[in-house]
Amino acid sequence: MAKLWGGRFEKESDHLMEDFHSSISFDQRLYKQDIAGSMAHARMLGKAGIISKAEAERIVAGLQEILADIEAGKIEFSVAAEDIHMNIEELLTQRTGEVGKKLHTARSRNDQVALDVRMYLKEEITEVMNLIKYLQDTLAELAEEHLDTVLPGYTHLQRAQPVTLAHHLMAYYQMFSRDLDRLGDCYRRTDVMPLGSGALAGTTFALDRQYVAEQLGFARISENSLDAVADRDFAVEFASAASLIMMHLSRFCEEIILWSTAEFAFIELDDAYSTGSSMMPQKKNPDVAELIRGKTGRVYGDLQALLTMLKGLPLAYNKDMQEDKEALFDAVDTVKKCLMLFRPMLATVKVKKENMARAARGGFTNATDLADYLVYKGVPFRQAHEIAGRLVLYCLAKKKTLEEVSLGEYREFSDLIAEDIYQAIDINHCVEARKVYGGPARAVVQEAINRARGKF
Ligand code: ARG
Repeated sequence: MAKLWGGRFEKESDHLMEDFHSSISFDQRLYKQDIAGSMAHARMLGKAGIISKAEAERIVAGLQEILADIEAGKIEFSVAAEDIHMNIEELLTQRTGEVGKKLHTARSRNDQVALDVRMYLKEEITEVMNLIKYLQDTLAELAEEHLDTVLPGYTHLQRAQPVTLAHHLMAYYQMFSRDLDRLGDCYRRTDVMPLGSGALAGTTFALDRQYVAEQLGFARISENSLDAVADRDFAVEFASAASLIMMHLSRFCEEIILWSTAEFAFIELDDAYSTGSSMMPQKKNPDVAELIRGKTGRVYGDLQALLTMLKGLPLAYNKDMQEDKEALFDAVDTVKKCLMLFRPMLATVKVKKENMARAARGGFTNATDLADYLVYKGVPFRQAHEIAGRLVLYCLAKKKTLEEVSLGEYREFSDLIAEDIYQAIDINHCVEARKVYGGPARAVVQEAINRARGKF
């Protein structure tokens, strides 16, 4: 087939070359954006008198037909036509003849592809943001159910201090709020219309770029033609925001995997989100959580691929940049799928409150409260820490918990300790006493949930 750029060439492309440089296998997913962009461009050309109004209308109608045919599955894209942009232009020319050949006036595939990818990403950012908000709703709902579900908080994966499941869930809520912020920032920088930049140096035609931006719902038009066709920062930013979302999901998944072991036994996953073993009949494996943890690496890889692809490129467009799409699409698809599965997996988890509480009562998670108790009685914190530490050592030797130490025994360590010690080291009291803003006390977490809810 004759190439749209064939004029300067005397020989056909090698068939391996044709396959190698063609991007239609993956960029066909941009067909909607490409057609919408071309319609806006054609209307603008008509309005500016660069082509006639009738020609613009014919082009728009032709593009509309092509769109309908693609959606009806009637179009087979051609590898020889290289990419989605030229496939559609060729289809248009087949259908409208000479008129179709005017569409590409004052435009290059370089600004066209930048436009398409930006339009695509704007939609996807909005979808990812909605998925995160949905997950946050679930987190807030679950948190509200578990304001009194005490479990150990950990540092170094060693039991540290008691918190509640509500507090733990709301920690993730905060992480996802920052992810939303980042996506919002990324959206603003993606929301820039590059058409009119041409191949790299703009165009001699008097385009109305603002009119194109308005038709396509862009907030701004790009400021520099070289930058507009060479910039893929927005894709890198998305992959970076997606990497952080995946990192947050992955940490949560790691906890879910740990918590569903027989050793922790804090939760049980719903059958719908776990699998069995082909050999071991007793197994119930947390596959969804493991896959999300595993797929985090893919998205990091996508980010790395984009950064590396760009780092050595002189201005402006280089064909290397065609490699942006598979990485970006993969990051989008992966983060969306993971968010879609993570939410129901979490929502259907069965919480074993008793086991959580038992774990919180063991492991001396109230030792800090014992030290704080002494501080309230006037002992300097370092000294209080020392006394509490010696008491823990004593308990380890006697195989007791701090609750099981008698007042007589306590008083051998400090005569400041009185009957009220038992209230001070009661696990539920330990949580309740932490009323500091941002802390785990019931009322404080309830307020955090209320603030979170007020946000949307
Ligand atoms: N398929 C190309 C891409 O995805 C479109 C732009 C091609 N421009 C060019 N001058 N070869 O980047």
